[in-house]
Amino acid sequence: MFENLKEQPADKILALMQMYRDDPREQKIDLGVGVYKNAEGITPVMRAVKAAEKRIWEEQQTKSYTGLAGDPAFADAMIGLVLDGAVDRDRIAAVATPGGTGACRQAFELIRMANPKARVFVSDPTWPNHLSILNYLGMETVTYRYFDSETGGVDFDGMMADLKDAHPGDVVLLHGCCHNPTGANLNMVEWQEVVNLINENELVAMIDIAYQGFGDGLDEDAAATRLVASSVSECLIAASCSKNFGVYRERTGLLMAISDKPEQTKLNQGTLAFLNRQNYSFPPDHGARVVATILNDPELRADWAAELEEVRQSMLGLRQQLADELRRLTGSDRFAFLAQHRGMFSRLGTSPEKVARLRDDFGIYMVGDSRMNIAGLNQATVPILAKAIVDAGI
Ligand code: LMR
Repeated sequence: MFENLKEQPADKILALMQMYRDDPREQKIDLGVGVYKNAEGITPVMRAVKAAEKRIWEEQQTKSYTGLAGDPAFADAMIGLVLDGAVDRDRIAAVATPGGTGACRQAFELIRMANPKARVFVSDPTWPNHLSILNYLGMETVTYRYFDSETGGVDFDGMMADLKDAHPGDVVLLHGCCHNPTGANLNMVEWQEVVNLINENELVAMIDIAYQGFGDGLDEDAAATRLVASSVSECLIAASCSKNFGVYRERTGLLMAISDKPEQTKLNQGTLAFLNRQNYSFPPDHGARVVATILNDPELRADWAAELEEVRQSMLGLRQQLADELRRLTGSDRFAFLAQHRGMFSRLGTSPEKVARLRDDFGIYMVGDSRMNIAGLNQATVPILAKAIVDAGI
């Protein structure tokens, strides 16, 4: 049997992570996988996470199963964080999932169950795993224009023109904030236009929000998701806690299915629980319990939000420093977009050959499509990167 197996394509991001680890050079910079690192290159456990874990360790009396949907306190807390009352609770079905990837996977499966003919419109580019899972599930995908490599911003006219090709029932997958991999985002006027198009053409919105708090602030980053969720008749939201709570390996995420008909919620909830049961039964609990503990305790919540704000400010500072350094070296504003981008990533907008050159000649690792993780930098490595970008002829 096993001899029938075929090599599967390596995930570009994870393959790069391995290449970096295997590189013996001392002077190397990892701008690959989307993991936050502080100035010392460490991905710290957040203070509030440590405190919540201590409390759970002291107080937890059982490790018996939760429900198929996970701990309801987690779902309620995350719905509050993401939607803040924008949608009535009785319209929202929700299940805990293994990370944001688990939430996306369950969302895609639900779409396939509900409407096997639905095509999923994804931004060009999008997070590679969106496409990988959709292809694996045999779902049809269509790309819509998104990134304009001339300006480093969003090609909004191209995006709207391509979305006009969607048929009723097709799904539009959007990044709630901090677009991965480009770092380029819509403004709220543009979001409203997308909402109008979704409603006029009877499309289904799906939002992947994996970086809330990394862009312009916790509420600011959720504003588009709240607008969409409160304005369309049906939508799916895949939320990740990996980055904003720094609980990557705990696999902590939530999938929400929102309908404008509260009587639909029970069926949606049952379907999501069924999907959990088929795929892994009960979702992981530890990270979810940590998140719920933090969000439901005013002191822990305030400390978490403060630490997240430090993380966000440090990334903004690095963006500005990089843009300034490149302006100094090139004498032009060609890279000013780096300071405008938001979140962990920016797409430099250069060729795979130049990306390979940065890796081979300068030990700088970024994803082949020139996505770099800004949080992989620190104040000392920004000038090294800037010089390498210029020396590599980018
Ligand atoms: C990334 O885009 O680098 C992260 O979301 C990690 C991953 O799983 O790909």
